[in-house]
Amino acid sequence: MPDVFDKQLSPFAQALTAGGLRPFCRPMAVRNGEAMDHGVRVVMAACNDYLGLAGDPRVIEASAKALDLYGTSCSGSRLVCGTLPLHEELEGRLAEFLGCQAAIVTTTGFQANLALAPLFGRGDIVFSDMANHASLFDAIRLGWADRRVYRHSDMGHLECQLATADVGAAKVIVTDGLFSVEGDLCRLPELAVLARRHGARLVVDGAHDIGLLGARGRGVAEHFGLPDAVDLYTGTFSKCFGSIGGVVAGPADIIAYLRYTARSAIFTASMPPAAVAAALAALDIIESEPERRTRVFGLAQRLAGQLRALGFDVGEAGTPIVPVHIGEAELCARLWQEIFHEGVFTQAVMAPAVPVGQAAIRLSLQATHTDDHLSRILDAFAAAGRRLGLIPGPAAAPTPRRPRVTGVSVR
Ligand SMILES: Cc1ncc(COP(=O)(O)O)c(C=O)c1O
Repeated sequence: MPDVFDKQLSPFAQALTAGGLRPFCRPMAVRNGEAMDHGVRVVMAACNDYLGLAGDPRVIEASAKALDLYGTSCSGSRLVCGTLPLHEELEGRLAEFLGCQAAIVTTTGFQANLALAPLFGRGDIVFSDMANHASLFDAIRLGWADRRVYRHSDMGHLECQLATADVGAAKVIVTDGLFSVEGDLCRLPELAVLARRHGARLVVDGAHDIGLLGARGRGVAEHFGLPDAVDLYTGTFSKCFGSIGGVVAGPADIIAYLRYTARSAIFTASMPPAAVAAALAALDIIESEPERRTRVFGLAQRLAGQLRALGFDVGEAGTPIVPVHIGEAELCARLWQEIFHEGVFTQAVMAPAVPVGQAAIRLSLQATHTDDHLSRILDAFAAAGRRLGLIPGPAAAPTPRRPRVTGVSVR
């Protein structure tokens, strides 16, 4: 008799998730570019708080005030008792910031993307970059439209798919603005041309670029000087905004439609007051402190250059996401462990987050990282990479600041 519980993780995944030295779901206290792991302080190089606002005293104070005023939760959906004046203030501010008519905030960025589903109707066609975030793929699955996946940033492939699609179908291209693993930007100028040529709408998930890119932090469209190229934005507050929550911004009639039809916005409790207030305070800082963007880009480019000089393949993206390409998942896990032994927490990215054979160590830099953090990250990669024979140079003995960890190793 088949049983829906007859499922289990692969032996490799079990080893990775069960051990004391596991890269995933590790309990740690994270703050300002560092983390406490089992009593040992490590450099945090995997957190998407790019501007370092999650620990900013102004953001914390605003959040604490809202907590005091409104309590911990609205305990209801936006439609019922979950809309505070704060939610509407944040929506108004974000719409203005992104140059859109209106915005709706959701409880997470994932839900902001799922909120796109009602736009993907029967007979419509959604063209999606292969490297888009899982939540965009899930939004397409929740809708009724046909899905066409084009190779990552391959404009020729996209054009071919657009050209051969039913001319009578409503079309939409969905793309991450700044891709979350490779750290590269979408090719917005070409996407905009293709969208206009084929009568397609263009939706950009600005999860990683809103707050980070462009002189005023308004994202990829500002970066490329194309304020009118994007028809609809989605975004998150869990990265540059040091909070949690999501947003969809665009034409007023479409936002009004989504407000009453998007299941991920209706059938769920609204963004908690403290998170809304934190996002509002973060937006003030995003607008007034461009030096944070300059700092984090400078750090990332310096680190990428130094890692490249050591012999690592870090790509050419030049953004605060620095991927260190490894390939095989087991090797990636071993490198992750060695780097962690050296006192640096990184993100191991493996299938299904990336295609099999394209595992990588993903680094994300923060404006609050110090120069000392940067050299500790570099030293950790040098020591670990040499020990595993990934880069040239004499293998040094492990440093004495190894985090104290117990349990099963993935080796
Ligand atoms: C590109 C992209 N979109 C959406 C999300 C979802 O955002 P959140 O974590 O706020 O749910 C993420 C999160 O990792 C992301 O990287």
